[in-house]
Amino acid sequence: MTNTATATAQPTQVITAETARQMSNEQLVKLLDLKNPMIEDIVYGDPRWSEMEEVDAGEIFEPHVPKGMLKIARPKHRHPNCIDSNPTYIPQREVLRSVLAWWCASSRKLSMFMFGETGTGKTEMLLWFADRMNWPVSLTAVNESMRPEKSQGSYVLFNGKTPFRYGSVAKAMKYGWCQIMDECDKGSGDFLSKLHTPAEYKPWQLDDTGEIIKPHANFRFCATANTNGGGDTTGRYHTSQRLDEAFRRRFAFVKCDYPSAAIEDALIATSYPEISKLTRRKMVKLATEMRMALRAPQLEAQATSPEALNNLQLPDERLSCAFSTRVLVAWADYMKVFGVKTVPLKESFDFVFGNSLDEEDEPAVYSIVQRIFGESFNHVDGWSDGSTSGK
Ligand SMILES: Nc1ncnc2c1ncn2[C@@H]1O[C@H](COP(=O)(O)OP(=O)(O)O)[C@@H](O)[C@H]1O
Ligand SMILES: [Mg+2]
Repeated sequence: MTNTATATAQPTQVITAETARQMSNEQLVKLLDLKNPMIEDIVYGDPRWSEMEEVDAGEIFEPHVPKGMLKIARPKHRHPNCIDSNPTYIPQREVLRSVLAWWCASSRKLSMFMFGETGTGKTEMLLWFADRMNWPVSLTAVNESMRPEKSQGSYVLFNGKTPFRYGSVAKAMKYGWCQIMDECDKGSGDFLSKLHTPAEYKPWQLDDTGEIIKPHANFRFCATANTNGGGDTTGRYHTSQRLDEAFRRRFAFVKCDYPSAAIEDALIATSYPEISKLTRRKMVKLATEMRMALRAPQLEAQATSPEALNNLQLPDERLSCAFSTRVLVAWADYMKVFGVKTVPLKESFDFVFGNSLDEEDEPAVYSIVQRIFGESFNHVDGWSDGSTSGK
């Protein structure tokens, strides 16, 4: 397929790359409604989507990047495949720094692999970044049964003909979008082995058509996963596969940890102002302690001296479940849905987390809860036992 392909949009109207170029953004995007693979190629291949504008990184990543420090290029026009992201997302400084450096580098030798525990904000970080950069996104939720055609494309029946429709990665590579392979380590070897070439930005030959797709300058290939590709060592992510060494070496790795207590506090304060400051503080403290209990065995093993171990102030409890930012935000959300001032905190907590606990984890979780919330857990937000000593 080339940009000179023609196709009938309406019986009397023929669309070519040249006529498309004369159209407004809205008219051009409207053509996608026709679901015609040939017209789709003309729309996505239109040169306006590759036009870049120079902007101050401090302007678009305000307040997370200082103004006047860095000029970057981003697409000038908002593409139909740009995805509006979570407006309350607060990036982690180190993660943002790595992503920004990688994304805006003049060339890319490696793709980006973002890994970390579930619910640490990996997928949202990439969507938030791409949104602010005006970058079109192709988001693929990878799973075990995914076939290679999903990324390359296949022949489809259209108006009695069988044109080829590009798959997600082929489109992103050809037209210059960001391809996110979400939960990449859940993919089969068969599926992932096809992605070696796009991951290193080399020309990619499609099996069915023989077409060679050259990576567009705006193509970005990112993966997210719970492990760094080495397979699961925790027992928590048993569907995570160990990735082929050749595939792993095509990536740079960014570790995504839970956001700091200050970030978690800020994101609840902004999105759920009806939750009291005291309860919010306790919720964040609970999240922090549960994560310490989860990591305790690892931290103990790494401690170099009894003093170092003591300084860690690890809780006595041990857990095997992750209390993520996703769970924390969901708790705040259901607290609001159930009624902050009408339903006890325990009910929304059990709804989003407590009821799913394994038998071994349950006593440890409620022991931490008890230590932080005490009796107030069984009451609505704002309840007071009469004493003034809020923890
Ligand atoms: N830094 C953050 N700011 C705001 N919300 C966050 C942040 N990190 C995580 N979240 C919340 O956690 C949820 C899960 O994030 P997600 O990116 O899907 O996690 P992951 O991909 O790491 O499993 C989000 O929908 C959001 O509610
Ligand atoms: Mg995710």
